[in-house]
Amino acid sequence: MTQHVAVVIGAGGMGQAIARRIGPAAHVLVADHSQEILDAVAGQLADEGYQVTAQGVDVSSREAVAALAERAASLGPVLSVVHTAGLSPVQAPVPAILAVDLLGPALVLEEFGEVVAPGGAGIVIASMAGRFHPDLPREQAQQLATTPADRLLALPICDAAAFADSGAAYAFAKYANQLRVQAASTTWGARGARINSISPGVIATPMGHAELASEHGAGMKMMIDASNAKRSGTPADIAAATEFLLGPAASFISGTDLLVDGGAVAAVTTRAF
Ligand SMILES: NC(=O)c1ccc[n+]([C@@H]2O[C@H](COP(=O)([O-])OP(=O)(O)OC[C@H]3O[C@@H](n4cnc5c(N)ncnc54)[C@H](O)[C@@H]3O)[C@@H](O)[C@H]2O)c1
Repeated sequence: MTQHVAVVIGAGGMGQAIARRIGPAAHVLVADHSQEILDAVAGQLADEGYQVTAQGVDVSSREAVAALAERAASLGPVLSVVHTAGLSPVQAPVPAILAVDLLGPALVLEEFGEVVAPGGAGIVIASMAGRFHPDLPREQAQQLATTPADRLLALPICDAAAFADSGAAYAFAKYANQLRVQAASTTWGARGARINSISPGVIATPMGHAELASEHGAGMKMMIDASNAKRSGTPADIAAATEFLLGPAASFISGTDLLVDGGAVAAVTTRAF
């Protein structure tokens, strides 16, 4: 039997947990911008018995994402694609957030939408931050959802100067991820594949720790305390949701966003604190 390929883009906290969860029995293609992280993670997974191929990628580069998709297809049928690569507001200025968190997923949806195998499925990791972004007027939302990736950052609503700070750009990008996954659901469906997004709450990864240590940390801790779970999420919480959405139990689920936040958005929305 041909071994299927599971692509994990972004080898940080969530990417590693997801690779471990969906990797057994697959050929895992793991990718990241940081060669140091990539080498360490690929080496560790190989030591643990996973079949791993590693490839560097900058998700904001069409060429690099296309090369990654081509590599994936060369390894076998691409049944799982999970996009976790991202930058948080404390890590980068507005233009980098837009390039990595907005353009990056758009490129991945387009390029992997060309190689995903029938019966395959994909996940884009968005964020609960996107749930706090106000809905855009219908015409703008449509533009954001469907403008080809190469022209996306040229839209007036994506102009870096329009964002007050990195946090505003991040929330916008993550809101856009959900819209683009909705739009990609139909194109992926034409290949017999599904695509969904997951919006995590605060998750204990290097990125989550950096956010908690920032000036926004106190507000985030209050939100966690007021939530149903009263704890940060673990990368394993996100890996479990990913496995579900990629698997046969989710065969009727496509183009949607699953909020995995321990009830934090519910607490904020209902003003529980
Ligand atoms: N951790 C949280 O609290 C949290 C909450 C909500 C959403 N998210 C989202 O979850 C996803 C995964 O985050 P994480 O917590 O695993 O973070 P992480 O920092 O542990 O991992 C992110 C990885 O993305 C890689 N990366 C950054 N820029 C890249 C680029 N241009 N090309 C390729 N790789 C690149 C980094 O090198 C890193 O390994 C991100 O999209 C993030 O925005 C995280």
